[in-house]
Amino acid sequence: MRETVNVNLPGRGYDVVIGPDLLAEAGAYLSPMLARKKVAVISDANVAALHLETLRAGLAATGIEMAAMTLPPGEATKSWEQLNICCDWLLDQKVERRDLVIAFGGGVVGDLVGFAAAILRRGVRFVQIPTSLLAQVDSSVGGKTGINAAQGKNLIGAFHQPSLVLADTAVLGTLTPRDFLAGYGEVVKYGLLGDATFFDWLERQGPALAAGDGAARVEAVRRSVQMKADIVMRDETEQGDRALLNLGHTFCHSLEAATGYSDRLLHGEGVAIGCALAFELSARLGLCSQEDPSRVRAHLKAMGMKTDLSDIAGDLPDAEGLLGLMGQDKKVVDGQLRFILARGIGTAFVTGDVPRDAVLGVLRDGLAAR
Ligand code: GLY
Repeated sequence: MRETVNVNLPGRGYDVVIGPDLLAEAGAYLSPMLARKKVAVISDANVAALHLETLRAGLAATGIEMAAMTLPPGEATKSWEQLNICCDWLLDQKVERRDLVIAFGGGVVGDLVGFAAAILRRGVRFVQIPTSLLAQVDSSVGGKTGINAAQGKNLIGAFHQPSLVLADTAVLGTLTPRDFLAGYGEVVKYGLLGDATFFDWLERQGPALAAGDGAARVEAVRRSVQMKADIVMRDETEQGDRALLNLGHTFCHSLEAATGYSDRLLHGEGVAIGCALAFELSARLGLCSQEDPSRVRAHLKAMGMKTDLSDIAGDLPDAEGLLGLMGQDKKVVDGQLRFILARGIGTAFVTGDVPRDAVLGVLRDGLAAR
């Protein structure tokens, strides 16, 4: 069971290969790309403990030698300090432009290592081997790389496309249910933003997918990646349509900041709540039917996911405070917040024309229900 989605960008196109047990075949995919049979792999301690030896064996099967380093797991790793450590290590390994750096892990590792590859020797090639559902369906594809700043997430970075993405869906079996469902928040996002039939399919297949159905997992990753590839091919550097991929993210970034980027709220959980809030806002503005936000929330709840502000443990700022935290969002243009709203399930659009009072109303009501 192998699926391939091509991201067809001029001069920097690449395949995203999706299927079970790809780690064991990594050498077969990488060998034709290598001038010398040696790669530098950067992972995090959790992923390395579970999967690094499988990857090592998969590379060794075609004679590829692997040097590996591990980073501390967690969002705090997306920092100047860890970027410095990565770059120093890659230079110590004498990685050259014709070599391949491998980002082996979830979104944190992919973003950080991709950024290191973007700036090392003014750009070396890299391969994404994403191990979380979130990374497989979103962050490993499309070339966004970067680290966080004190002022907000992902504010320092570069567009640097990978040369290949290997999404081994068998690896998803080692995720905790919470991490799997957080990634599923990004899967649902694709249906909501641009494909109502995919959302219908998720309503039917979501429970089997979460329970471990391998074929359903491959199909969900394939459809998500295909949607992302189509959008990235239209708008690689987010001048327009690519912002659609940020459905739910304006709310999410504010909630992540309010919870200190901690375990209180994982990114994908914030995306799921953010999607529900974006649909609520769309309905209140008369853009979509009242039933749409209820349907979004019903699916998230059926999957056992965080859906409402009341699902976030602990204190949150008031509505004004949450709105203030949206100010650092990268979607701010000329100081004005841009939202991704929807005319219905599967028809999202980008707008800067959202009354502040409407946003505050959605937040106030959500907080009042806590
Ligand atoms: N995660 C949003 C994007 O890649 O544009």
